[in-house]
Amino acid sequence: MGVKHVVRENDIYLTVCGMQGIHVCFTTLASPGCNLLLPRPGFSSYESAADLASIEVRFYDLVPGRGWEPDLQQLRSLADSATAWLVVINPNNPRGAIYFGAHLQQIDETARDLHIPVIADEIYGHIVFGGSSFVPMASFAHLSPVNTIGSLSNRDRSNPSAPLPFQTSVFDG
Ligand SMILES: Cc1ncc(COP(=O)(O)O)c(C=O)c1O
Repeated sequence: MGVKHVVRENDIYLTVCGMQGIHVCFTTLASPGCNLLLPRPGFSSYESAADLASIEVRFYDLVPGRGWEPDLQQLRSLADSATAWLVVINPNNPRGAIYFGAHLQQIDETARDLHIPVIADEIYGHIVFGGSSFVPMASFAHLSPVNTIGSLSNRDRSNPSAPLPFQTSVFDG
């Protein structure tokens, strides 16, 4: 499984850090009064970034008994016509969960049904231990658009041969 889409130069945006990539998403592809769906537990800086952009935050739960996968039924009930983004953090901070490809597909199918683009926070995509494999959300960008956030500062410096992550890339579906 991998990203099948052609990624062109103009699909890649370099920012000074992952956090700035998130701010760019919130200030360019959302407007005050919009809302966004965030995982709980999650990375708390999303809330302050949303606050700065006057975007309402709605939390969907990650289920401990199901590998911290999102509760998709709850997620569906939270979205409405003002929902600008669905944020998925995989591998997850703070829980460290890594989602299977089949589940990522279900998430992107849900986003497609709701007509919401996905912010795939894959800051830790190159730091995966114990034989687990990481599947980029962009593998499913044919279902719903995926905007991937990566970060040079968080890459695994113990493995210099790991591919360089990008800062922010947009794949259209
Ligand atoms: C899940 C997650 N997303 C985004 C960021 C921000 O990345 P950066 O340090 O490149 O701003 C972090 C940093 O800790 C993070 O844990």
